[in-house]
Amino acid sequence: MQRLVEVEKVSFEEESNEQSLRPSNWDDYIGQEKIKKNLRVFIDASKKRAEALDHILFYGPPGLGKTTLSYLISNEMNSNIKVTAGPMIEKSGDLAAILTNLEEGDILFIDEIHRLSPTVEEILYPAMEDYRLDIIIGSGPAAQTVKIDLPRFTLIGATTRAGMLSNPLRERFGMHFRMQFYTEEELAKIIQKASLKLGMNSKNDASMEISKRSRGTPRVALRLLRRVRDFSQVANEKEIVLNTCKYALDELGVNEHGFDEMDINLLELLISNRGKPMGLSTMAAALSEDEGTIEDAIEPYLLANGYIERTARGRVASIKAYDMFRLTPPKFENSSKNQQQGNLF
Ligand SMILES: Nc1ncnc2c1ncn2[C@@H]1O[C@H](COP(=O)(O)OP(=O)(O)O)[C@@H](O)[C@H]1O
Ligand SMILES: [Mg+2]
Repeated sequence: MQRLVEVEKVSFEEESNEQSLRPSNWDDYIGQEKIKKNLRVFIDASKKRAEALDHILFYGPPGLGKTTLSYLISNEMNSNIKVTAGPMIEKSGDLAAILTNLEEGDILFIDEIHRLSPTVEEILYPAMEDYRLDIIIGSGPAAQTVKIDLPRFTLIGATTRAGMLSNPLRERFGMHFRMQFYTEEELAKIIQKASLKLGMNSKNDASMEISKRSRGTPRVALRLLRRVRDFSQVANEKEIVLNTCKYALDELGVNEHGFDEMDINLLELLISNRGKPMGLSTMAAALSEDEGTIEDAIEPYLLANGYIERTARGRVASIKAYDMFRLTPPKFENSSKNQQQGNLF
């Protein structure tokens, strides 16, 4: 089955598909209202002062619109955006080259910023704080620091793992925004707009059906929409309708809670532990998945919707998860008291 959850790898095909559906103005960017409201204030203020926007950090699970927002900001600021990613900047010289090539007011977008190496990160501190590059030439007692002034730029960092960012780096961002999962109504709107862009109307109930099964994530919703559209076109339908939608989504193995295979495997694993908390490393080994993927991409949705709980000693499936599988949970009485001790049962 096609995996719906990905930490950072988006295929080339998908990336170019995403470009075509990426909203280019605020009205097309649905949801995340609080973030949008704040950003608009900051953008207006910095435009009025004719200053570069303060540095911004977006964090949250993949596919919620961090990259899209960054492009929107650059549109709104009428500024150029240079795009790179943590793992692509190997040496401090690479970053120095990027920084010295920036122009006044440019935006530098660093995706997966938690993956910058510590030596590269150190170059960023004075650059962010004082728009200055400190380059050390030579070594030992003869070493000299050369300072180069940089244009006033805005750094936008995106990460799925805010916890992995070092404190000094995190503190140098003037604004921190945590991305939220989308409501079903918001996702339905995104689906509707996207399906029109794809040249096919989607009936309301069909958009809602896709939205319910999209893990609160636009990237998943758009991916499902494309697959459903394939089924509709093969069936010679002019619109995307509920029946075809349900059929296609069932064929794709997406259940009505929006869970994919990985979510189900994870829940089954926790349930099989009969209420004993399970540690992250045990889960990773049992699921043949790395810990980062579980923490960044799979767990957040399950936690946000109350299907699993985190205790001091590990994760447990919640009553809601047992209900979904129509199983009787192990004794849940006194759960809150026991939970504090890290033991639910
Ligand atoms: N709020 C939104 N409204 C409409 N489309 C969105 C929104 N957020 C994300 N998308 C779409 O979802 C896809 C993934 O978004 P992206 O910005 O790449 O996520 P992230 O960078 O957080 O992983 C893109 O194709 C984008 O067009
Ligand atoms: Mg992104």
